[in-house]
Amino acid sequence: MTVYHLSTECYPVAKVGGLADVVGALPKYQNKMKDVDAKVVMPWYNKSFVYDHEFDVVFDGFIHQGQNMLQVQVLKEKTNTLGFELFMVKIPGLLDRENPYGYQDESFQFLAFQHGVLHWLTAMQIRPDVLHCHDYHTGLVPFMVENCPEFGFLKGIKTIGTIHNGEYQGMMRWDMIHYMPSFDHYKWGLLDWNGFINPLACMIKCCTAFTTVSEGYLEELFVSFRGLESLVRDEFGKAYGIINGIDSDVWNPETDPMLDFNFNKKNVLKIKKKNKQKLCKEYNLNPDLPLFAFIGRFATEKGADLLPDVIWRSIKQTYGSLNIMVLGSGNTYIEDKLKELNYVYANFATDIGYKEHLSHKIYASADFLLMPSRVEPCGLNQMYAMRYGTVPVVSYTGGLRDTVKDISTGGSGLNFTYPGVDDIIHAMVRGLAIYNQKKAMDDLVLSNMNFDFAWEKSAEKYLALYKN
Ligand code: ADP
Ligand code: GLC
Repeated sequence: MTVYHLSTECYPVAKVGGLADVVGALPKYQNKMKDVDAKVVMPWYNKSFVYDHEFDVVFDGFIHQGQNMLQVQVLKEKTNTLGFELFMVKIPGLLDRENPYGYQDESFQFLAFQHGVLHWLTAMQIRPDVLHCHDYHTGLVPFMVENCPEFGFLKGIKTIGTIHNGEYQGMMRWDMIHYMPSFDHYKWGLLDWNGFINPLACMIKCCTAFTTVSEGYLEELFVSFRGLESLVRDEFGKAYGIINGIDSDVWNPETDPMLDFNFNKKNVLKIKKKNKQKLCKEYNLNPDLPLFAFIGRFATEKGADLLPDVIWRSIKQTYGSLNIMVLGSGNTYIEDKLKELNYVYANFATDIGYKEHLSHKIYASADFLLMPSRVEPCGLNQMYAMRYGTVPVVSYTGGLRDTVKDISTGGSGLNFTYPGVDDIIHAMVRGLAIYNQKKAMDDLVLSNMNFDFAWEKSAEKYLALYKN
């Protein structure tokens, strides 16, 4: 069975968040299974990856976007060492930029990407068994496959849509219709949601089946989905919640080349401390205090706006008996606030930016990982943390609810029901109490390392869905 994953991110080629981690891992694990040949198709960005690797041009053609004629090249990575074949769609002037997101003309970018992929498959007479579309950026593909005469060769292909984050739906004004490949116009209603072209809504309507990245998140979408609640209820019959796994080749504390000191379950108690000492020294923190860390995008869905208050209040309330470290970027108001606190409190350190190496070091050094998310479709950070012997302190939502159980109910993490400053600090204080009882803390570290979030189980679930 041939599966083409269509995505705007893929680790290690281009990563903004967890979408990249999933698309860089799931196909690899699928290819280890007997029945699947999984490939990845993504835009070509001007990132270091493309300069460090060699490619073959496997297709060169043109598409029309409104009045514009765009060149579409498809390049295949030569070495095939990622665990899957990687195809990159180059559209000069539109996709060949440094970042996946953040441009004014992103609607044109993603329309062209989807159009370009289907044009290439049609022209080369490639007919996969499944087109697996990730998030709204590829959400129009199920519609285009069925309704654009230009792609008639692909009609009938099964399409899976995976919702990694329903907060982003890619809504466009109706005048964008002129830039789409032509389609049977009486089908326009499939594109529409509340007077806009809504690629995520369209994906849900048109795909063969759709998935969310945890079961908990799927349940939540019925009641809170930025206006798409009734749609997800109507289409419930083809909805599946499949929790993400983690790539245990990349996220393995025993072999991770980004760590200063590697460790395993046997020596974690000794070696994790060495990582912490090194990190604390670098950031002027006291290594004898418990270290709470946050890694992530500074967005309200992540509860990042709560961090400044959590930081100063928790330090004050505990009379400075804990340390906090934050790695992330995003909202500039939060960035500035954190930089300010960095000057004021010796117990707090921050590094603003996207730093893959540092994130690994933090997972390996911290005692606790804070995730005060308001919305968390799956969340990978908590699973990485647990694999690295770090106790997750998380809000009870979406994928966090599915993966982290509170110690009071036999789990090995700390939950708080509502992501508010008081509740977060309350959970941190509970963490502090455990940290101060050495045996209890050691047990918690070990039990977190015993969790198995390997991709194999979820890859099986996707296969069962494809076969269905
Ligand atoms: P999301 O995709 O919503 O941002 P996830 O928990 O699924 O959240 O995945 C986030 C991924 O991005 C993890 O691999 C995390 O380590 C990484 N990450 C987030 N922010 C940073 C950062 N500033 N530097 C390095 N890695 C980061
Ligand atoms: C999204 C979600 C995150 C999830 C990731 C990978 O970015 O916000 O919760 O883990 O996708 O599926």
